[in-house]
Amino acid sequence: MLVNAKDMLQKARDGKYAVGQFNINNLEWTKAILLTAQELNSPVILGVSEGAGKYMAGFKTVADMVNAMIEELKITVPVATHLDHGSYEGCYKCIEAGFSSIMFDGSHYPIEENVEKTKELVKVCAEKGLSLEAEVGSIGGEEDGVVGMGECADPDECKAIADLGVDMLAAGIGNIHGKYPANWPGLSFETLAAVKEKTGDMPLVLHGGTGIPEDMIKKAISLGVAKINVNTECQLAFAEATRKYIEAGKDLEGKGFDPRKLLAPGTEAIKETVKTKMELFGSVGKA
Ligand code: 13P
Repeated sequence: MLVNAKDMLQKARDGKYAVGQFNINNLEWTKAILLTAQELNSPVILGVSEGAGKYMAGFKTVADMVNAMIEELKITVPVATHLDHGSYEGCYKCIEAGFSSIMFDGSHYPIEENVEKTKELVKVCAEKGLSLEAEVGSIGGEEDGVVGMGECADPDECKAIADLGVDMLAAGIGNIHGKYPANWPGLSFETLAAVKEKTGDMPLVLHGGTGIPEDMIKKAISLGVAKINVNTECQLAFAEATRKYIEAGKDLEGKGFDPRKLLAPGTEAIKETVKTKMELFGSVGKA
């Protein structure tokens, strides 16, 4: 069932668990994530970056594919189609394409401009029934060629954006996208607690879910994180399973080259990764 992310995140915040946002790249990814959510009776958010949207032939293709899959696979758990790190223009494209949720990443604008643009999008999303995520404090690592520095957000700026009426807020707390370097100092729980203190009931979003140790994930949830984004980990699992299949020469046996066979181990590996994350985040059985 396609829904916006507002209710599922408020429930997660109140129930002290987090809903996973898993980024999609193609049909196999989407199907694997939807089937796992249904099997585990968990709400789920499908993240679509601007780059992934372009890769999949545009946001309309993505929105229509997800909607059709929800219907044909009889997915009854709550599913949100969410633009990940959207530009101002990208947000409008996704609203038009039929997404149920968007993230406006205005973290690279001066705070006044981030506030102005976010304010406008709060109004548009409310009119159209979408949920909206905003970001304060750029989240490090590289995503679609945009490299952030992994800063910690200013709690007062978080409050300024939260008070505009967004549904969820991503605040940098030392998290980064992709693999964490060996000398990563870990999440700043001090920043997270200060952001929580200032933003009250706002469901908080933890980006860069790949590679964060389990105890830090659990602590972050206990401090108000209600949505956790995972992308790279599914990509690594998919690549590893596919490589094993090819290295074992399975594509050369019989019809092993058939894409439906070739991509099957990778798809199963995504399912396994999503399952592990949903169990860790505590969203199993919460649909
Ligand atoms: P990872 O790729 O590090 O899991 O981060 C995903 C993310 O935050 C998407 O916005």
